[in-house]
Amino acid sequence: MPRDAESDIRSLVEPDRVHRRAYSDPDIFEREIAQIFEKTWIYAGHETQVPNPGDYWQFQIGRQPLVMVRGNGDEIHVLYNRCPHRGVQVCGSRHGNGGDALTCPYHAWRFHYDGSLESVPLEAGYRDTRFAANKGDFGMKRVARVQRYRGFVFASLDPRGPDLVEWLGEARVAFDDICDRSPVGRVEVVPNCFRVIQRSNWKFFMENQLDAVHPSVTHMSTGYAAAEVERKLKRETGSQPLHYHYLSAFTTPFEKWDQLETAGYPYGHTTLGGYMGLRPSDPDTLAHEKILAQAYGEQRKEEILGRNIHHVLIYPSISVQSPLQQLRAIRPISHNRTLSEIWHFRLVGAPEAIYRRSLWYYNLVNSPATMINADDLENWQRGQFGLSSDGGDWVSFHRDYGRDTDANGELHSTNGCSELPMRAQFRAWVNYLTATE
Ligand code: FES
Ligand SMILES: [Fe+2]
Repeated sequence: MPRDAESDIRSLVEPDRVHRRAYSDPDIFEREIAQIFEKTWIYAGHETQVPNPGDYWQFQIGRQPLVMVRGNGDEIHVLYNRCPHRGVQVCGSRHGNGGDALTCPYHAWRFHYDGSLESVPLEAGYRDTRFAANKGDFGMKRVARVQRYRGFVFASLDPRGPDLVEWLGEARVAFDDICDRSPVGRVEVVPNCFRVIQRSNWKFFMENQLDAVHPSVTHMSTGYAAAEVERKLKRETGSQPLHYHYLSAFTTPFEKWDQLETAGYPYGHTTLGGYMGLRPSDPDTLAHEKILAQAYGEQRKEEILGRNIHHVLIYPSISVQSPLQQLRAIRPISHNRTLSEIWHFRLVGAPEAIYRRSLWYYNLVNSPATMINADDLENWQRGQFGLSSDGGDWVSFHRDYGRDTDANGELHSTNGCSELPMRAQFRAWVNYLTATE
């Protein structure tokens, strides 16, 4: 990166505040695509999205149209969805099965699931051409690296840099926590996902996930209405459905949020402790606990259920709520448009009632139909308008600044309402954008 570009990036981020251009400048966005999204590990999808040979699922990293394809065995390939003949996208549906081979719809060049060329029509026409001499080069290009952690598939367009496990670091707990809640240690995706276009910069979403101040403000109206219905049901029937609590929990006062712990890690990943009492003692939970105790033993079961996590954010592409088997992935489109994918999972071998709980959360809190998600989207859109205006240059991340502990590149705070997660993300942002290789 040229020296002046590097100093420009550095000038945008101070330890406790960030210049609005980080959100509103299309040139900065293009640098983010090149230096972050097209360089680091980005979530591709879950292996159960492509269970059978030839199954594929399209997605995007940065500007690159890609396709995740199941091979003939356990292997999963990630290919550029581009035909080496004349460039047409080979896989046309968002997801499907390629049959015997992935076949381009334009002139029927065919490819093995690993992208290598299987055949072309009228092959005699290529005799004595450079195509014939270099046939091995005429496959669909593979991305530089594909790695999986507990069934979650990541791809990197850059051959350099740390392996996935090293890069995930402590944030691995997102996937350990989600999978360990299954007695066989596995989850299955429940297709399809919701897709929402956010009219805001991708960083609004990432910052919001660990913003423990906003729920009691932004979601207060929903929280109080749900709490009222919850009380009424309790009065009338003696009990209330557990899922009402997913909404009434938004009445949790600031003081309680502030008792949670937050942490930030070197590659920008951040975590927030749990707040909702996600270990109730209703019969369904107890039945699930019994299954886990049989599978893992009492002590290990306690270790698994004793983790206290609300959110793990794996920078820059996903947010995971492991106790409720939720995952949201973002695919930035422009400085003020972001595609989000909203997924949820089933714990293999766990009671159906536990899955229903995850589905309730998915629909009540994360889906585009809920008032929770809608209120968040409204805030981010208003934020994008504000940061595109001349009303001021800086975004404030001062809350609890100076009280984070910083050891070995890890930031920790015992204040759940600290703006540590935002500061940690921007620390990583500068590192990514100013990296020289
Ligand atoms: S563009 Fe794919 S076969 Fe011609
Ligand atoms: Fe929210």
